[in-house]
Amino acid sequence: MTEQSDAASPDGPEGQPLTDRGSNRSQRPASAAFRAFMSSAWAQRRVVPPEQDPAAPFAADRRGRLSDRFPGDRLVLPAGPLKVRSNDTDYRFRAHSAFAHLTGLGGEHEPDAVLVLEPSADGGHEAVLYFRPLAGRDTEEFYGDARYGEFWVGARWTLEEAEALTGLRCAHIDALPDALAKDAGTVQLRVVREADDAVTRLVDDLRASDATASGSAESSESATQEDDALAEAASELRLVKDAYEIEQMRLAVAATADGFAEVVRSLGRAEAHRRGERVIEGAFAARAREEGNAVGYDTIAAAGDHATTLHWIRNDGAVRSGELLLLDAGVEVDSLYTADVTRTLPVSGEFSEVQRRVYAAVLDAADAAFAVVKPGAIFRDVHAAAMEVLAARLEEWGLLPVSAAESLDPDGQQHRRWMPHGTSHHLGIDVHDCAQARREMYLDAELRPGMVFTIEPGLYFKADDLAVPASYRGIGVRIEDDVLVTDSGYENLSAALPRTPDDVEAWMASLRP
Ligand code: GLY
Ligand code: MN
Ligand code: MN
Repeated sequence: MTEQSDAASPDGPEGQPLTDRGSNRSQRPASAAFRAFMSSAWAQRRVVPPEQDPAAPFAADRRGRLSDRFPGDRLVLPAGPLKVRSNDTDYRFRAHSAFAHLTGLGGEHEPDAVLVLEPSADGGHEAVLYFRPLAGRDTEEFYGDARYGEFWVGARWTLEEAEALTGLRCAHIDALPDALAKDAGTVQLRVVREADDAVTRLVDDLRASDATASGSAESSESATQEDDALAEAASELRLVKDAYEIEQMRLAVAATADGFAEVVRSLGRAEAHRRGERVIEGAFAARAREEGNAVGYDTIAAAGDHATTLHWIRNDGAVRSGELLLLDAGVEVDSLYTADVTRTLPVSGEFSEVQRRVYAAVLDAADAAFAVVKPGAIFRDVHAAAMEVLAARLEEWGLLPVSAAESLDPDGQQHRRWMPHGTSHHLGIDVHDCAQARREMYLDAELRPGMVFTIEPGLYFKADDLAVPASYRGIGVRIEDDVLVTDSGYENLSAALPRTPDDVEAWMASLRP
């Protein structure tokens, strides 16, 4: 299906700009009679104000906390634009996480929108959502714009609908430049720079003209630092999840557990297919789209030696009995919160002796990491506990060239050859959530109730690793769970998926009669 256009040049292709050539594949009528006909004879739209989204009051509270950090400043948080996948087809829209968190908008809402926290005279901020509202059927956009037009991609919200849904004051996106320019030179602007290049340029241009007008140029470096402080604050705001977010994480993990069960049911088909890893990826993706918005990140469906490649997302290999399948996958629910879970499964349904030995070491490391988790513990100590177990086990197996103690020393670290990644990361609306948080708020921070993060130790022995005996080569194991810090300790949100080798085998047997 292609957009129809009337733009074919009567002068032939030589006189036609390249940017216009996409219209050469078809013709869209442009007569006045056609335009009049297209804008006529449509049924009245039903006007039923939508109910407020359950996320709205939580988003309002989050905005309040951000407002407290930047009194008097105008805060600009774009959703981001549509992104081209190829030529004239876009990726599905996915809003910038700070925007989603502070508006409560998930799904595919709302490309090009911008949330502005406008400083109020009496302190605090008023939040305004600028976006492109539904265009009338009498507009060219309605049937003539394949990227935004209702005829092509479906109806957008009206301003009134968006106000009812979000509880935000809403305004047309065309009003944004003037809104940002208001009180030029007296109000400090801060923008999340990475979200939308066009909005960032707009803010930078406004700053430049303010500076020219006042003759006292603020350096672009200090403006960027002010912007970075906003991105940092928006990221740190997500370190402790509210009740809505925790509920969404539970939904994401439950849908993910369903997806893992579906994968086990698909193993027979995967084994029979030359690209069995794709069968696995597809089985999980189907559940993710059915139950949620999408996968929260590209699924790692890694069989055999591929499991030792940390970010194996090509997923084009075979799935063979006798090997392990490392499946790292998460469903992102419609609110955009995602799970991030890994299980390592014996394709045959039963671990070999050496696979079980490696698996047990990783499980022990995970359990040691879990044992650290309680309010007041330090985030980095979760990783340290897992490393102690793995270094000891590698020493026991005779694989380390030094003692476990020497390896654990910062000047050693030889065990990291086989466990090169971190054990934990915050999780939420981004799979690697809170990525702009300061070190003292992340690695060096105390755990607090409401934090959600992964525990995901692994051991990876590549097929060509001559530092280990042949029997270990080609084995990769990771066990990844999603953990909520509670008042008294933790809750393993992904505990419904089996973790011990015996439980994994029994679970697989129950799903593959
Ligand atoms: N799936 C990405 C990660 O585990 O961090
Ligand atoms: Mn992870
Ligand atoms: Mn993962």
